[in-house]
Amino acid sequence: MTKILVTGGAGYIGSHTVVELVNHGYEPVIVDNFSNSSPSVLDGIAKITGKRPAIYEGDCNDAAFMARVFASERPAGAIHFAAYKAVGESVAKPLMYYENNIGSLLVLLKTMLAFECHLLVFSSSCTVYGTPDKLPVTEASPMQEAESPYGYTKQVSERIIADTCRAHPGLAAVALRYFNPIGAHPSAHIGELPLGVPNNLVPFVTQTAAGIRPELVVFGNDYNTPDGTNIRDYIHVVDLAVAHVKTLQYLQKEDVSYDVINVGTGRGHSVLEVVHTFEQVSGRSLPHRIGPRRPGDVEQVYAAVDKARTTLGWQARYSLEDALRDAWRWQQSLE
Ligand code: UD1
Repeated sequence: MTKILVTGGAGYIGSHTVVELVNHGYEPVIVDNFSNSSPSVLDGIAKITGKRPAIYEGDCNDAAFMARVFASERPAGAIHFAAYKAVGESVAKPLMYYENNIGSLLVLLKTMLAFECHLLVFSSSCTVYGTPDKLPVTEASPMQEAESPYGYTKQVSERIIADTCRAHPGLAAVALRYFNPIGAHPSAHIGELPLGVPNNLVPFVTQTAAGIRPELVVFGNDYNTPDGTNIRDYIHVVDLAVAHVKTLQYLQKEDVSYDVINVGTGRGHSVLEVVHTFEQVSGRSLPHRIGPRRPGDVEQVYAAVDKARTTLGWQARYSLEDALRDAWRWQQSLE
């Protein structure tokens, strides 16, 4: 069985990807420091797959630790999820973001080269596009200046990986540019576990519906969109997880050096559409009011998904309804 190192494998997207790796016959090995995740996620993974993957607790910035993991596991490839991801926090603590997100990537790449680990899938983000000139946004769209240190770490990381692949022909990598991952595993055994007050829309919605938050504030309804609220491409986390497996298969089969691929549904939904769809699937009314715009928000962005379809043979299968239903089921399982 092909062994794949999954950094951040106990996290939100990482844990769902670990499940899909097992489902597709890979052997995932998790590295996680539990800074934004919980060891109990391993129980959820075991309930779904019947398997408990190997896990190493430690920090990807720790080169000696990473060398020990690679020496004992000798993985054929790596998926690098481990990173900080809160836009606002990155503005307040830029050095923490640069050190963690860039530093861990450097350690990982150096360790991969030292141990002849040749395949890498990297978690990038549609944030690299900034405010796109044309919609849907294709992989050929130019990057705009990053709005936040978080966004800049994704742009720089992509460049570091591209340069490293160019210099080391044995290394093959794909950066997946995620749009907005939401939802949870349909079994409700794993899902998103935000620490404190959620920054992202859907966990805030489900916590409000559960009575943990008094109301949702919709960040502005004066944008140039049909209902005035921002438009995003919301992708079910299980679809996103499957895209990682397809990317590994692509890297194993084709002669790839470095590539970037959008992972979205190709469809945009407004914030109010999310609110109303959530009310339909949950049968609850969601207390919400319109507030001011959130600084740094892009008016609208959704993905061109042709490249994912043609190169990976992948496309999203779940709808917004499915994703919100699964997010709600997961929230209810926490009570
Ligand atoms: C952003 C980044 C994404 C990054 C993510 C990390 C862009 C286009 N996207 O996603 O790459 O990975 O942050 O956190 O830069 N909203 C409300 N009320 C709330 C929360 C959110 O109205 O309480 C609205 C936002 O204004 C936005 C939408 O919901 O229009 C989605 O917001 P969020 O879930 O935070 O994701 P993005 O900001 O799109």
